[in-house]
Amino acid sequence: MSHTPVGGAGLRTPHQDLHSEPGALRGEHPGRSRNPAVKVADLAWLEFEKPDLDRAEVFARDFGFQIAARTERQLWLRGTFAGSPCMVIRRGQASRFIGPAFHAAERADLDRLAHATGSDVRDIDVPGGGRAVVLLDPSGFPVRVVHCAEHLPALPEQQPLILNTGTEHRRTNTAQRPPREPSRIQRLGHVVLETRVFTRALDWYLDTLGMIVSDFLFLDGQRERGPTMAFIRCDQGSTPVDHHTLALHLGPGTGYVHSAYQVTDLDAIAAGGEYLAERGYRRSWGIGRHIQGSQLFDYWRDPDRFMLEHFADGDLFSCDLEPGWAPMSASGLAQWGPPVTRDFLGADPSPAKLRDVMRALRGDNELDPARLLGLMKAMSS
Ligand SMILES: [Fe+2]
Repeated sequence: MSHTPVGGAGLRTPHQDLHSEPGALRGEHPGRSRNPAVKVADLAWLEFEKPDLDRAEVFARDFGFQIAARTERQLWLRGTFAGSPCMVIRRGQASRFIGPAFHAAERADLDRLAHATGSDVRDIDVPGGGRAVVLLDPSGFPVRVVHCAEHLPALPEQQPLILNTGTEHRRTNTAQRPPREPSRIQRLGHVVLETRVFTRALDWYLDTLGMIVSDFLFLDGQRERGPTMAFIRCDQGSTPVDHHTLALHLGPGTGYVHSAYQVTDLDAIAAGGEYLAERGYRRSWGIGRHIQGSQLFDYWRDPDRFMLEHFADGDLFSCDLEPGWAPMSASGLAQWGPPVTRDFLGADPSPAKLRDVMRALRGDNELDPARLLGLMKAMSS
C-alpha cells in the first residue's frame, strides 16, 4: 500500500485562511493512503491497567465520567452520549496504558481487516459483548478494531449555557449560574501517543485503519526530513469528524501522552476545573484554545500522573481537506491561554527520560542527535 497525493480541484486547504500554515510541498507526505485495508469510524475506548480501581473510580467521577460497568477486576467508564464506553481500567500490577480501540464502520470490516493483516476476529470483553481484531502497531501498542453488539443509551446532558453577546441577547430576566459540579464528559475525543518510529507508525495507521492527516508539524530547519508530528482524523467521507482522534509525535519514549474528553462548553470546562482544583487534583495546563484543532482545552493529572484533557468547541473536518504544515513549537500549541507548562511538555528531566534518550539514540528508530536537538529547540520556542 502506498501513499499518493490527493490534490485536485475539489480539495480545499483551509489552513491558509485559519493560520499561516501552507500545504504540502512537492513530494511531501500526502497524509492519506491510496488503498487502506479499512476506514475506521471513530476512536472507541482506551485501555489502562491500574492497581487501585477504587482510587481510579473516585478520580473518574470527579473528572466527569459515569460508570458503565464495575466488577472486581474491571472499571468501564462512559460519557453521556449514546454508544460505547470510552475507557476501561483493568486491575493490574502497575499503572500503565495498554492501547486504543477503534470502531469498525461495519461488522464486515472486521473480516476484511483480519484478512488483510493475517489475524483473526475474536470475542471481546466489553459490556454487551462484541467482536474485535487485535493488531500490534509499529510502536508496539496493541490496537483493537471493534464492533460492539450493544450500544449504551444516552444519559442526561449538562445543558450548554445560553450566552449573551454584545449584540445578541439570547438570555434576559434570567441569571447565569453554571453549577459547581464535575464537568459531565460527553465522549472520548482523542489520544496522543509518543513514538520513536513516527513515520512507520503514521503510515501504519493510514494504511491499516484508513485514517487521514489533518495537520503535520515538522522540526524547524529540518522540514526536508519529513514531519515529526501528525494530527490524524477518521475518514468518514463528507461527514465532518474531529480534527484529530489520534495524534502521533516523534520522541525518545514510547507511550501515552494524553487523552481528551468532550464537555459541553467553556463554562463546563472552567467550573469543572474549579471542582477538580478544590479536590486537590493538579492542573497540568489550561485553560486555553489550541491552534491545531482549535479546541478549548484544560489538562489535568490523575492520581497516577496520566494526563487527561477536558475540551469543547473543536474543529470538524470532512475528508475534503488536505493536511496543513507548520513548524513545531511550544508557542504554537495555543492561540491564547497561560504559557505552556514544563509539566505539559514533559520537559522535566528524570532518570527514566534520560534512559529513554540513550536507548532511542542507539536503537533502530527515527531519532538521531539532530532531531533530538530540534525537539528540544521546539519545546523552548
Ligand atoms: Fe489534546
